Amino acid sequence: MSDAPVLSGVQMVADLESAGDFEKKHTPWIAIEAEGDRTRVTIETGHHVPHPNQPDHYFQWIGLYAGEAPIARSDLSPVATEPSVSFLVSLDPGTVVRALAHCNLHGIWAAEAVV
Ligand SMILES: [Fe+2]
Repeated sequence: MSDAPVLSGVQMVADLESAGDFEKKHTPWIAIEAEGDRTRVTIETGHHVPHPNQPDHYFQWIGLYAGEAPIARSDLSPVATEPSVSFLVSLDPGTVVRALAHCNLHGIWAAEAVV
């Protein structure tokens, strides 16, 4: 396992409001919802601006990190699946979660939220 920080080589847009469509279509969107004593984390790509979901251009996987620790990942195929996943997690309030999404052509993109 690499000692590189989780966001090494990952593209993360600091100000999505002023970003262009290219950045918006790749940056994951995160929704946090309490579900009893657990938390549902939903991650979507193409939420801000639609992204292609074709055999030659699509999101191959979406992963969830708690801080630097990988805790969940979904592998996706194009066309048949939508690039939206949901994980039910048990995390302490205040935990920073990071969503990573890998476009086969444009690399890994990230977003953060706080539980
Ligand atoms: Fe892309």
